[in-house]
Amino acid sequence: MSSGLAASLAVIAALAVDAPCGTVDATPRSAEVPPLKSAYRGKFLIGTALDVPALEGRAPLDVQIATTHFDAFTCGNSMKPDFTQPEEGRFTFAQGDRMVEIAQRCGATPIGHTLVWHSQTPAWFFKGPDGLPPSRELALARMRSHIAAVVGHFRGRVKQWDVVNEAISDAPGEFLRPTPWLKAIGEEYIADAFRAAHAADPHALLIYNDYNIKRAYKRPKALRLLRSLLEQKAPIDAVGIQCHWRLDSPDLSEVEDSIQQFATLGLKVMVTELDIGVLPTRYQGADVGFRQLMTPEQRAALDPYPAGLPEPVALRQAERYRQAFEMFLRHRDVIGRVTLWGPHDGDSWLNNFPIWGRTDYPLLFDRQGCPKPAFFAVLQAGRAARRSARR
Ligand code: G3I
Repeated sequence: MSSGLAASLAVIAALAVDAPCGTVDATPRSAEVPPLKSAYRGKFLIGTALDVPALEGRAPLDVQIATTHFDAFTCGNSMKPDFTQPEEGRFTFAQGDRMVEIAQRCGATPIGHTLVWHSQTPAWFFKGPDGLPPSRELALARMRSHIAAVVGHFRGRVKQWDVVNEAISDAPGEFLRPTPWLKAIGEEYIADAFRAAHAADPHALLIYNDYNIKRAYKRPKALRLLRSLLEQKAPIDAVGIQCHWRLDSPDLSEVEDSIQQFATLGLKVMVTELDIGVLPTRYQGADVGFRQLMTPEQRAALDPYPAGLPEPVALRQAERYRQAFEMFLRHRDVIGRVTLWGPHDGDSWLNNFPIWGRTDYPLLFDRQGCPKPAFFAVLQAGRAARRSARR
């Protein structure tokens, strides 16, 4: 271990002071440490995702962590098409409104996620009157009216939208994912979605969001799509890189190259769904359709920390977060936001992806709301950048 790494880990470990945490009668430690958002004020927004339990008042710890440490909130699910328009013409916005209310109460920026996606979109969107796929005109009308209704409802309150999510294919040689939207409308559905979102709220910042587009295999396709949108004068403002990472992948220099290449297009870059999983997995992505099976014999190997995160692993994760945030800070002129995909480890989708029922530890706070070494690493990185900015 390099002396620099040892020194930074020593600082992080020292900061992660032991204290009674998360016990029933103790204030969660998350309320007792410096707010993360203060260390990043003036650099970029630092956000988190609030999911259904928090927005239904069943997860006060999530709201406490979010309102104390973060200044941008994304709904993990509640603004997706299956939540906002479960049946044609019937809209439900209560959870999205709740997120906006919580955000406005603490001065955080509400982020909309997502308008057009192949997943979590009710089947009715893709059924014509005869039960067959809809005509191009019908699919376009449905997409446009969904966007107009949802963006219109949150107009002036939600400041950024993931307009189209994960439209690029992972398959070698295939540019766009063959989604029902692509099949019904054609490639132009993407630019059209951005135009519809802009018409519904001209002041909202509009984002194309995807996973692994900072990876060399997918980056060229992302650059091709973004250039095409810009050439069509689609009102796109930013590219969202989701950043669902592991302890040992991806290579941060590959990410940094991508951030720089996206920036040359004149687009902002948003880190939209950052988490760093610590469990072994072969799959490196976020295609929600992927599932890795696990036999009982494999469980010990694939779910190694059911009782808690060993400190050496926590420190490795902290170092990974430190390196990531130092890299983000180097590009804070381009990066407008870094959102962690959840307030604490118990909220993470990675507990059930790509294998159901594991215990992962991908975020900055543990299941009791205690700040982990990763929290202190991110806090340190922001503070150090602040100091260097003053010099
Ligand atoms: O709402 C239903 C509930 O009624 C039902 O009882 C329950 C039964 O399991 O399921 C609930 O829906 C779940 C939904 O989260 C809301 O909790 C779905 O099963 C579950 O699959 C869904 O998982 C979400 C995942 O997207 C699937 O699309 C995760 O919470 C969410 O964090 C994750 O986020 C995505 C981003 O939107 C896009 N980028 C990738 C990222 C990770 O997949």
